[in-house]
Amino acid sequence: MCGIVGAIAERNVVPILLEGLQRLEYRGYDSAGLVVVENARLKRLRSTGRVAELMQISKGTEGNIGIAHTRWATHGIPSERNAHPHISRDLIAVVHNGIIENYESLRDGLVKAGYEFTSDTDTEVIAHLVHSHYAKGMTLLKAVQATLKELVGAYAIGVIAADNPDRLISARRGSPLLLGVGIGENFVASDVSALLPVTNRVVYLEEGDLVELDRQGYRIYDAEGNEVARPVQTSEISNESVQLGNYRHYMQKEIHEQPEAIANTLETACNSHSIMPGIFGAEAESCLSRIDGILILACGTSYHAGLVARYWLEEISGLHCTVEIASEYRYRKSVPNPNALVVVLSQSGETADTQAALSHAKSLGHVHTLAICNVPESALVRQSKLRFLTRAGPEIGVASTKAFTTQLVALFLLTLVLAKQRNHLTAESEHLHALRHLPAAVQKVLDLEPKIARLAEKFASKHHALFLGRGLHYPIALEGALKLKEISYIHAEAYPAGELKHGPLALVDKDMPVISVAPNDALLEKLKSNLHEVRARGGELYVFADADTHMNEEEGVHIMRMPEHAGYLSPILHTIPLQLLAYYVALQKGTDVDKPRNLAKSVTVE
Ligand code: M6R
Repeated sequence: MCGIVGAIAERNVVPILLEGLQRLEYRGYDSAGLVVVENARLKRLRSTGRVAELMQISKGTEGNIGIAHTRWATHGIPSERNAHPHISRDLIAVVHNGIIENYESLRDGLVKAGYEFTSDTDTEVIAHLVHSHYAKGMTLLKAVQATLKELVGAYAIGVIAADNPDRLISARRGSPLLLGVGIGENFVASDVSALLPVTNRVVYLEEGDLVELDRQGYRIYDAEGNEVARPVQTSEISNESVQLGNYRHYMQKEIHEQPEAIANTLETACNSHSIMPGIFGAEAESCLSRIDGILILACGTSYHAGLVARYWLEEISGLHCTVEIASEYRYRKSVPNPNALVVVLSQSGETADTQAALSHAKSLGHVHTLAICNVPESALVRQSKLRFLTRAGPEIGVASTKAFTTQLVALFLLTLVLAKQRNHLTAESEHLHALRHLPAAVQKVLDLEPKIARLAEKFASKHHALFLGRGLHYPIALEGALKLKEISYIHAEAYPAGELKHGPLALVDKDMPVISVAPNDALLEKLKSNLHEVRARGGELYVFADADTHMNEEEGVHIMRMPEHAGYLSPILHTIPLQLLAYYVALQKGTDVDKPRNLAKSVTVE
């Protein structure tokens, strides 16, 4: 989604802004731009192409204060005139992430006051509002503070003025923003990775915060305008961890990082011979012993992780579990159970719908909250009582891979902790052994890569695909279909295999590949019957089967054998070949694997 970088320094900030934008490209965008103060005038450059194009047109531009932006269109089509920064009367320049909900009424008022609008965006009202206050003699700081009082909605903004090259103002409400602290220079960005080449000392701004930066320092004000101190943290994200290395795409790199990501996630949890509630935070033991149910809230891939966990939680811990799509839950009139543990799942920890769903749950009286998240300093982590950090490392590819499998690991650990507290846990040491073996088991599945790459060649010409699974593996079929559609643009749907004859079987013919997740579990024989139904209608079957699943290759039936069966952890292993399949089909189709069209990595708007 949109990205912001801002810098004030003694040196030329243009290379800093451009490199920062390049590092934010993974979030997804459709246009980019920057503005600097050059010879007491605003110099703005915008492009509807990649940041590389902006780099080309920026050659020769210099300034020691500037703001830059990658835009993911919400109001107004992707175009140069809608790209940020937006400028008011050659004096005020603004970049903005988020959505201003009352922009239409603000725009009407500004038009009446004589302001001319040159874009279709909601953002432009911010530039003109700041200008209207600044022109009355307010300082830039006061003009921005006055503007923020008029805005309804979510924002992270950066503001500069042509006649004041010594001040950069930035503020956030509902969208992430952090300050980077340098020596004789300071920065702002919506994501820490943008600033890693210049500093790893960061201040995560809180909801409603505004910061005024100059070269020597900064001052932070809270939503009431009081000057406040926020801790300076050293980001643990290393510059190397966001480099591509020898891989062709981040997605491929991240698929291959899964053994290490899982091992790292297990490291703190699983070193001893038993598993303790403390891995979910200091208050976990008492909090988790008081709950009588689970409510999982998430979006997209994270929602699929929640669906897998429901099977584990109900079967192993005996606790009732509901899993809801966050964007639905936040507006649904539900009957709350305040004794349930609300688990928010998110790679980024910044997903707007998941944040709103958590706030909604709290407003309904939920007090037991747990965030399972991959970004330590993110909003969801800060807003939850308990927390578990998956240690997958930065995930750059828009298609979530290692974040998903590490979420599953975290959810399995939660299941074990809850089951143990309730004396439901049998075979704790066997479960821990299986978890410790998981990185090696995932590595063996990754060794199937060349075979899956060959299999993918059969898909490149297809327009549709059906994914089937049952029980614990039905959510894996959903995840496989999501991966395929988001990066290869092949229309893919997933069904519990038993549902086939209730409708989707009508779609099956020789042109419809049917991909099935077929572990050797209690539902295997039922699944095989469903697959016969497909074959009988001429459907081409691609089956990811465990080694001991008795199914043979034949005309129209392609079997990919998994190295081993992992019991309860089988969904984690069965995810890997579906990730690889989607990746290689996308390669065949020549799509932009890491930045698929129309999608963003962190969905920070509703
Ligand atoms: O950061 P989150 O886990 O909250 O993101 C939720 C979804 O936007 C995300 O999982 C999305 O579905 C992925 N692009 C799927 O690969």
